[in-house]
Amino acid sequence: MKQAPKHPVRLERQGNVALIVIENPPVNALGVAVRRGIAAALNAALAQEGTHAIVIAANGRTFPAGADIREFDMAPQEPSLTQLCSLVENSPKPVVAAVHGTALGGGLELAMAAHYRVAAKGARMGLPEIKLGILPGAGGTQRLPRLVGPELALDMILTGNQVSAGIAAEMGLVDHVADTDLREEAVAYARSVTEPRQTGANREHLRDGAAYMASVNARRAQVKMELGANALAPLKIVNCVEAALLLPLEAGLDVERAACEECMDSRESAGLRHAFFAERAASKFPEAADAKPAQVDRVAIVGGGLMGSGIAIAALQSGFAVTLVEQGESGVNAALERIGAYYERSVAKGRLSEAQGAAALTHLQLTNKLDTLSEADLIIEAVAEDLELKTQLLAEISALAKPEAVIATNTSYLDLDILAQATGRPTDTIGLHFFAPAEVNKLVEIGVHDAASPQAVMTGLGFAKHLGKVPVRARVHAGFGSGYIGNAILEAYRHAADIMLEDGATPSQIDGAMRSFGFRMGPYQVADMSGLDIAYARRQSKPRDPDARYVEIADKMVEQGWLGQKSGRGYYIYAEGQRQGVPNGDVLKLIAEHRAQKGITPRKFSDRDIRDRILLAMVNAGARLLGEGVAARPSDIDVVMVHGFGYPRSRGGPMMDADATTPAIIASRLSVLAPEEPKLWSAAPVLSMLAHERQKFEDLNTS
Ligand code: 3HC
Repeated sequence: MKQAPKHPVRLERQGNVALIVIENPPVNALGVAVRRGIAAALNAALAQEGTHAIVIAANGRTFPAGADIREFDMAPQEPSLTQLCSLVENSPKPVVAAVHGTALGGGLELAMAAHYRVAAKGARMGLPEIKLGILPGAGGTQRLPRLVGPELALDMILTGNQVSAGIAAEMGLVDHVADTDLREEAVAYARSVTEPRQTGANREHLRDGAAYMASVNARRAQVKMELGANALAPLKIVNCVEAALLLPLEAGLDVERAACEECMDSRESAGLRHAFFAERAASKFPEAADAKPAQVDRVAIVGGGLMGSGIAIAALQSGFAVTLVEQGESGVNAALERIGAYYERSVAKGRLSEAQGAAALTHLQLTNKLDTLSEADLIIEAVAEDLELKTQLLAEISALAKPEAVIATNTSYLDLDILAQATGRPTDTIGLHFFAPAEVNKLVEIGVHDAASPQAVMTGLGFAKHLGKVPVRARVHAGFGSGYIGNAILEAYRHAADIMLEDGATPSQIDGAMRSFGFRMGPYQVADMSGLDIAYARRQSKPRDPDARYVEIADKMVEQGWLGQKSGRGYYIYAEGQRQGVPNGDVLKLIAEHRAQKGITPRKFSDRDIRDRILLAMVNAGARLLGEGVAARPSDIDVVMVHGFGYPRSRGGPMMDADATTPAIIASRLSVLAPEEPKLWSAAPVLSMLAHERQKFEDLNTS
């Protein structure tokens, strides 16, 4: 854990204005040292003779981006943020917050406790606590409704969305938007005000109690309808905003604090906080950290299918110049149609203006000429999963690419080592495994094979970060296939599900059990959506493991032409244009016949059995990946499962869940199942080691 600087707050002076300057990189989080520093500086400023007003500002990239989340699991230390905010609000001299960057959570709460707010033009403000499963715990639910009214306050607190300085000024959250020099304008503003103006005493939005209560009640009903009656943080937020009307500030703050503490103790919040830090840890590749990534201005993508077009859109949206190479005129036209349709949808939905859509497209060069690749700094091959096609194409790409270009393949399951060798410049070649739809899904696995240079790896990482993606490293060893984290876990997960299907469960029962765990879709709904032929082709392309139990049900379905949504029939039957299906009775018949052929007497699985087995399979596969060095940290596996496969974010991920159960219990459950299918259920060595040492997966996490 990073140590806060010893003196993260300084007191400066500009004539009759005292300037409290926070400097606690990287985001000026309001840890205990900062809180104490601000309190001490405020008291010192008030004690100084001639102080007319006080400005609270921050150095570095942002006004405080919140409380220090790392302190949440520690014993509370005074002053709490609530106490600090009260100290600021009760200052007998006017206090002005000078806001830049992203004033979030506790940072915005501190700014709202100040008497006036001056914001830099580019500043953004928000209360994102809900994304951590908690609620603003330092007055946010009490002061924001007093400043902007219940409607806008509930919008901000329930969504966690940020608002720009301009919008904040229109809402009444900001008093002045600084056009030029924030610090100077804030000091000038401080000189111009004559007295404190306590947010807690602002009754402007509390006067019409009936309208206020109508807003609160409508929002409560909406939350219950959308999220259920047990949605902890959202309902507590509504209650706290209600308390802002009904109670004096101090009592409202007490209600808020108790609600925040209850949320903080919830499993949901623990999971969301784990996910927050896991995402940030995943994008750290310490072994390559010293390498300098190549400058990427132009990205070329070869293959304009769904994946290639999605990557192109993601790159265009992040300001890259993009070359997309497709075959022939029809290939070019199809890709253009796909990308054009995306921009049309975005404009229609108001996500982009027409001008923005048109501007993005001016950076796209769509062509059928491979020799255009010579201008690209990064070339991503995104054609169909066919080893021969890819090896041939990668050799061609390599011959045309400039010597310093980095080459990436978007293969999902082919052997990355073979593909890298095919380029003849394996050091410059990496895997960039995007997840569909690539323009939306945040996950990118960075495939690192033995010969890849740190520079190529860091270039891929930098590119993915620039796209706003969540990159996770997957280390691939020769002969292990693509070795990606997500695929390996998915395979184990599907294998566990297929065995239960063969032994007595139904597709809809398995899907329902996983949905009740928190997945948006169960494995057979996903299979129908992805197309059964895709997984079929993958199975056919690999030699069968003679020691593993093979379940032929999906193969038999493909042989019947039941490919899922695309053929209107898979595990479910889909009416024309529908994505929701009803169970396919013919599949149930096929499964029954299949069991009879194999002499299997069906048995019952409870939903709990189903969930347990699938989770055990995921965790064991994750432990195997850690042992093989494919995954660097348990938390990386959690990130992949949350972003790539819909594992409920509020649970943190399978490895965090495993820690909650404890590896020792997981290992003992596996030992019960092992005789059934040793290949799947024999505990991975890392899991056995943790069980033996009474350790947890989190003990293996590195920064
Ligand atoms: N506490 C502790 N560390 C934090 C932090 C916080 N509130 N916010 C960010 N960090 C750390 C990150 O973990 C990361 O650390 P690392 O370098 O060791 O990995 C570092 O700061 C930089 O963060 P990012 O990589 O996310 O940097 P970006 O520039 O991409 O994003 C940001 C900056 C928009 C501020 C983003 O970090 C963010 O959204 N932070 C969380 C904001 C938040 O949730 N605030 C509310 C906290 S809860 C609260 O305030 C409770 C209060 O109501 C009582």
